[in-house]
This record gives sequence, structure tokens and C-alpha cells, in this order.
Amino acid sequence: EQIEKGGYDHFMLKEIHEQPTAIKDTYRGRMLPDEGLIRMAGVDDNLERIANAKRILIVACGTSWHAGLVAEYIFEELARIPVEVEYASEFRYRNPIISEKDVIIAISQSGETADTMAAIKLAKEKGAFAFGVCNVVGSSISRETNAGAYTHAGPEIGVASTKAFTTQITVLTLMALKLAKHNGTISNTDFRTYLQELELVPGKIEKALEADEHIKYISDIYKDARNCLYLGRGFNFPVALEGALKLKEISYIHAEGYPAAEMKHGPIALIDEEMPVVVIATKKGHYEKVVSNIQEIKSRKGKIIAIVTEGDTEVRELADHVIEVPETIEPLTPLVTTIPLQLLSYHIAVMLGKNVDQPRNLAKSVTVE
Ligand code: G6P
Repeated sequence: EQIEKGGYDHFMLKEIHEQPTAIKDTYRGRMLPDEGLIRMAGVDDNLERIANAKRILIVACGTSWHAGLVAEYIFEELARIPVEVEYASEFRYRNPIISEKDVIIAISQSGETADTMAAIKLAKEKGAFAFGVCNVVGSSISRETNAGAYTHAGPEIGVASTKAFTTQITVLTLMALKLAKHNGTISNTDFRTYLQELELVPGKIEKALEADEHIKYISDIYKDARNCLYLGRGFNFPVALEGALKLKEISYIHAEGYPAAEMKHGPIALIDEEMPVVVIATKKGHYEKVVSNIQEIKSRKGKIIAIVTEGDTEVRELADHVIEVPETIEPLTPLVTTIPLQLLSYHIAVMLGKNVDQPRNLAKSVTVE
């Protein structure tokens, strides 16, 4: 097992560090920036059917559901196709309205999650076209769907999902770009910019990983917190949800993710000097609005840990701690802002002596309902 961990203390840490390579493996052969092309067999072979979808339904569970939420923002922004994201377990039991013009995308690392599988079967019965985004090759969901795209992240052993999440977002971004190009909802210049920026993401993740020691230092300060709030807006709202989930899963600290502006409709009541608040406050993406959310937290004496763009000065003045990530175009920021949140939960769990790779009560894949 030590050999399999490749010199890391835990699979989770190894998998966090594998993300630059995993993302390259996801887009290798699919993304051809010089030709200004994206090739994805599963999409290419069914291009008209998918690009003409009246609606895209995304079904998933857990971390994969969070990747689906990021994809909703990306698909709507780029391809201008309406998207709905559903928990597979809710979708399958509520007699959903599905038409033959719908495309359903199931996102599943394992490809074995029972609820996601049932959701796909139901949608297919009602005539929808089913597309799978799975990591495990030959898995049940990848076989049940009409077409699909593998994430090629390599085996993920840690129960808390890390590289599966970022590679799912990568595949879905490629798919959205491809549909956008086909439907003429993106200019050639923007399309090329996206491809060039995507190629830079692995290097930017490497850079984000360099904050490890600083994140360890912050983890030590907050490891005894009873609660923690995560806030983000736009493309980074799902990242806040995912950050909170990671902390809950492996450190057993109660954490909640919220869209930053919704804070005033409830969670703000919880803020006092005992409450750490992790805020994703990267440039662009409603930056000024997030800054004012940070001021609201500060005036209630909450402790602020902010994820900021390299070189940021405004948030640095307000926050108790800042963690810098390299700048990228806004829809791609989740791929970098996720990294410090993974490391934060990892270090806190290790410091608390928890079983990081196999947290209590959780399974890597839930094959029962
Ligand atoms: C379990 C795992 C999570 C995962 C979820 C969905 O809860 O512990 O890490 O996100 O199932 O799994 P899937 O394999 O469908 O992505």
C-alpha cells in the first residue's frame, strides 16, 4: 500500500497532487488548440441530437452533483442550452417531466451509484438521450448510457473525491465548448481562448498546490472549530458546496456551503468570533459584491479565510488569512479554487487524527439506494 501511495501519507493527498496530470489525461487527444478543435467521440457521433437538446438534465450524487452544478453554469454560459441539475435520488422518485428532446447527463466517478443508474434508466424509458460522464471504464452507468465521455482520472481510492471532481468539470467544459461551437453561441476567438486557458490550468493547479505549507498553518488555527461556513458566487458557488462537503466528510466538522448573497437570509445569524468563514473571492465574478459580503462577516467578528487571485490587495486588508490562486478566465476558476479547499480539509482531518482515506460511515460508491 505504501508503494501505491507513491510516497504520500494518504491516497487523498496523492490524488490531490495528481490533478494536474489527471486533467491533462482528460483533455489529451480531445483538445486540439492549434486546429481550434475539440474531438469527443461520444459527442461527435451524436452531435445533432445533443446540440439540439431542448434541455439538458444532469443527474448525480455527492461530489459529482457539485460538478453538475458547475457544468450548469458553464453549459448555459457557453452553449445557451437550458440545464437542470438534480439529485438522482430525488429525480427518480418524483415522476419527472421528460421529453424525447431532452438529453440527460449522468455524472458518476464509479459509474455504479444506484440512484444515478435508476435515474438514467427512467429517463431513457421516457425517450431521453442518455450521456454518461464516468471515471471507471466499463462501469454499469457507462454501459447503460447511449454515449459518454470518460474522465480518465485514473483510479480514485480516497473516499473523499478530489481528482474525479476536477476532471468531471474538465470533460463537461470540453463538451459545452463543443456544443457552443456547433450552435454558434461562441466566437472563434473566444473558443480558442478557452482552449489556450484550459491548457494552462494544470500549471496553475501546480502553483495553487504550492500554498500547501501556508494552508497547513491555517488548518492548525481552525482545526478545533465546531462549525465552518463556505461562501462563493457564480461559478464558485458549487465550489463552496464542495469545500464544505470535503470538510464534513473527513474531519467531521459541521460545515455548510452557501451562495454568498444568501448569507443574509439565514447563515449570517450564526456568525460570531467562533465562526470561520471560507470565502472564494477571486477577481471578476462579482468580486466587489463578495468584498461587501466579507465586510458583513468582518463586522460580526467572523474569522475570514479568503481564496483570492494572485496579487489581490483589497481582500487581503479585510481577511484574517488569504490563500492565493493563479488567475484564469472566470468559468475555469473552479478548477483552481477547489485545490486549496481540498488541502484545507485534508490537513484539518490529519491534525484531528481522522481516517482520511476511509472516513467513518461513508462508502466510495453507494450501490444500494
Ligand atoms: C459517495 C462517495 C462520494 C461520491 C458519491 C457519488 O457518496 O463517497 O465521494 O461523490 O458517492 O459517487 P459517484 O461514483 O456516482 O460519483
